[in-house]
Amino acid sequence: MLRMWDPGWDELFRKNEWGRYPPEELVRFVARNFYKAPDRAAVRFLELGCGPGANLWFLAREGFSATGIDGSAVALDRARRRLDGEGLKAELTLGDASKLPYPDASFDCVLDVECIYANSWEDSLRILAEARRVLKPGGLLFSKAFMTGMPKEALHQDYGLIRLTSEEELPKLYAGFSSLEYDSLIRTDRNRKHEVREWIVTARK
Ligand SMILES: C[S@@+](CC[C@H](N)C(=O)[O-])C[C@H]1O[C@@H](n2cnc3c(N)ncnc32)[C@H](O)[C@@H]1O
Repeated sequence: MLRMWDPGWDELFRKNEWGRYPPEELVRFVARNFYKAPDRAAVRFLELGCGPGANLWFLAREGFSATGIDGSAVALDRARRRLDGEGLKAELTLGDASKLPYPDASFDCVLDVECIYANSWEDSLRILAEARRVLKPGGLLFSKAFMTGMPKEALHQDYGLIRLTSEEELPKLYAGFSSLEYDSLIRTDRNRKHEVREWIVTARK
């Protein structure tokens, strides 16, 4: 039984085409940290809230071992069809990011590309504790999350919750990790109608 995931996501993915390509910041993070791996297939990535699989598609194409979990069966079906259609492999799990069905210390890297922001503060802490549990010692976390100071209306209104993160909250949210580093990404959108503000967080177990 899913506890925190909002069924509005299913509706969203049913009605809309979703982004098919990874964000530049994720590509840069993966390139900087993992492109030199001698055996890419041995590098295990887990994406929390993988949606229709744009990031898993990129990781699989680059030869890494990719696993994704999401509460949306509709999104996972899209991801499966796209990966299969291109002969790419990834493990997909229907489930909640706060209860990861993976063993301790089983991933080299955990990705959150705008999944955790859609959960309450307490649930976000649970999800991050789970991310830490499944990471190998020394494993890396990448987390992209919306920042305070931007209008929630710029994101979505009719499904799920939106939790914006302040700079002061970052060390508390990622307290279970070491080597916390973060950058910001601020841009205008819709001909400067509003600002989109995001944190790009990296940390290590
Ligand atoms: C903004 S979308 C991002 C999808 C994908 N990461 C991407 O970059 O295209 C957020 C995704 O997180 C999923 N999600 C949010 N909270 C979740 C939770 N607690 N457990 C599982 N999935 C969750 C939603 O179903 C949705 O697919």
